[in-house]
Amino acid sequence: MAEVVIVKNTAAAGALVADEILELLDAKPDAVLGVATGSTPLPVYQALAGRLRDRDVSQVQAFALDEYVGLDPAHPESYRSVITREVVEPLGLDPARVHVPDGSAADAQFAGERYEEAIRAAGGVDLQLLGIGTDGHIGFNEPGSSFASRTRVKTLTEQTREDNARFFDSIDDVPRHCITQGLGTILEARHLVLLAFGESKAEAVAGAVEGPLSAILPGSAIQLHPHATVVVDEAAASKLK
Ligand code: F6R
Repeated sequence: MAEVVIVKNTAAAGALVADEILELLDAKPDAVLGVATGSTPLPVYQALAGRLRDRDVSQVQAFALDEYVGLDPAHPESYRSVITREVVEPLGLDPARVHVPDGSAADAQFAGERYEEAIRAAGGVDLQLLGIGTDGHIGFNEPGSSFASRTRVKTLTEQTREDNARFFDSIDDVPRHCITQGLGTILEARHLVLLAFGESKAEAVAGAVEGPLSAILPGSAIQLHPHATVVVDEAAASKLK
């Protein structure tokens, strides 16, 4: 079972996970980080930015979980743009060593295979940050995703499009498709750190941590992982037994 850590607030979660990442970088300066987008991991990046000042992070590599399909990579809400703004610049990472799936590739299947190959060539992900959708998705592995899935194109659920409409002018602007690391890909990372805050995530967190293993709740895949840590505030923990 995943280790569950209940923290007071998002800042405490950010500090805790940033310290964990620092420890990893102390032991392995060329560590490979798995980075997530959305609102949840932002406190981690903020805490990490302060802690990484004066450090050499030139060897660190990072892989994003997912990207929208059909959104110009230069759009401010493309995950390429978000990762540049929230991760690469504040942490001072080498942009050439930070990878995001290619949502504008003409051959999406090839783009997925190439991404898998890049992760393998980097030696795999050491620490994977994860958020969770209100519908239980991790990455953009929506309900029904195979636990063995690899990086591929998926259709976003209406729930996810509604949840993410806050980043766009209107829900009509939210892309309908994405390219995402699969659950099988994510499970190969050596340490999973799933974060969730707020009441709206409570059900998904309970299902992921304590519910039956089920493709209906893709987050439950973390139960298969030997080293998974779940960092939640009290509201997100409120439906745990
Ligand atoms: C983002 C991702 C998604 C989000 C999830 C939660 O790269 O893969 O699984 O983590 O949709 O989003 P927020 O954090 O905005 O609630």
